[in-house]
Amino acid sequence: MKPNLLITGASGFIGSHLIEESLLKGYKVFAAVRKSSKLILPDNTDVTVVQLDYYDQAKLVEQLANLKLQYGRFEYLIHNAGITRANKPDEFNEVNNLLPQRLVTALVASKNIPDKLLLVSSMAAFGPGDKKSMIPISVNMPMNPISNYGKSKKAISNFFLTQSPIPFILVYPTAVYGPRDKDFIEFVKLIKNGFEPYLGLYHQALSMVHVSDLSFAIVGLLEKGSNNEQYIVSDGKNYNKKELGSIIKRILNKNTIKLFIPVTPVLWIAGLIEVVYKIVAPNKTPLLTKEKINEISAANWSCDAKMVWEVLGTKPRHDLESGMLHTIEWYDNNGML
Ligand SMILES: NC(=O)c1ccc[n+]([C@@H]2O[C@H](COP(=O)([O-])OP(=O)(O)OC[C@H]3O[C@@H](n4cnc5c(N)ncnc54)[C@H](OP(=O)(O)O)[C@@H]3O)[C@@H](O)[C@H]2O)c1
Repeated sequence: MKPNLLITGASGFIGSHLIEESLLKGYKVFAAVRKSSKLILPDNTDVTVVQLDYYDQAKLVEQLANLKLQYGRFEYLIHNAGITRANKPDEFNEVNNLLPQRLVTALVASKNIPDKLLLVSSMAAFGPGDKKSMIPISVNMPMNPISNYGKSKKAISNFFLTQSPIPFILVYPTAVYGPRDKDFIEFVKLIKNGFEPYLGLYHQALSMVHVSDLSFAIVGLLEKGSNNEQYIVSDGKNYNKKELGSIIKRILNKNTIKLFIPVTPVLWIAGLIEVVYKIVAPNKTPLLTKEKINEISAANWSCDAKMVWEVLGTKPRHDLESGMLHTIEWYDNNGML
């Protein structure tokens, strides 16, 4: 019998890859989506789509109890739903912290209790590492998030670490790229057009992971990871920010003009835009805020992901060079460049 695995946030970038990987590993996959979700699955995909009302607790309990009656208990659950952008700071806490807490309560109340719930968190929960020593971030370090996004991810980690009534695993991916991503493609397009912009005039250490390696790690940890343990996931290497541009340039065979933009004036402009938004659109937050700029321009996002690859007994399939080649080929084949 295939074990039942429920995946939330199934329609998103990482969620779609988690579905593919879980099917490959032989799980009976249930894709949890909201009513508003636009989940598109390839034809003949053996996935059961279930709708969950995360914001109506009584209904959520009823839905989970009914699903147990119909299909049996979910042996595993990957809680991947989350937001990285929000119109209001409170939204981060609502979706990334309170929602999974409600889900856990509903799982217990419906007696649909998984053997393991794996939460997809983020390195933003830790915040950037020390910029003097440049020591890579590891799971033993204290969490010092510098954004509301990171604070919401830290809050849900604290909930699991101190109060979870069910076994869990916390996974902290670093920056994720790959087919179907909508963030890195903007940088690729700029380079294709001959521009190579960098925020900050200083050395910046970055870590990254191709989405296929992240999905492989997450699904692998369901079986191989220890209960109540935390894992940072990257491709195991740390890069300086210019390596990303150089690799993309090489793949696209492009020459570029490098633009090094100092952080301070960008922070002033972002501050000004935030003030304007408060007056003309108080319910909205601009795409670039001061805290987002501080987060993406932090000097040390290097991390230590040795533990996850040791536990999985393998190495990631992609480093940045092969992962970017695969991603850019995918963008190209799908008419996105
Ligand atoms: N992308 C990265 O670089 C990165 C890095 C580290 C961690 N993460 C984490 O990985 C997870 C997935 O991220 P992603 O990049 O795949 O994002 P994504 O493409 O935006 O997908 C997130 C999914 O979450 C669900 N969702 C969105 N808003 C929600 C709300 N208000 N209430 C409930 N569910 C909601 C949606 O699924 P449905 O519509 O199907 O319900 C959505 O497709 C998130 O938890 C994120 O914090 C991402």
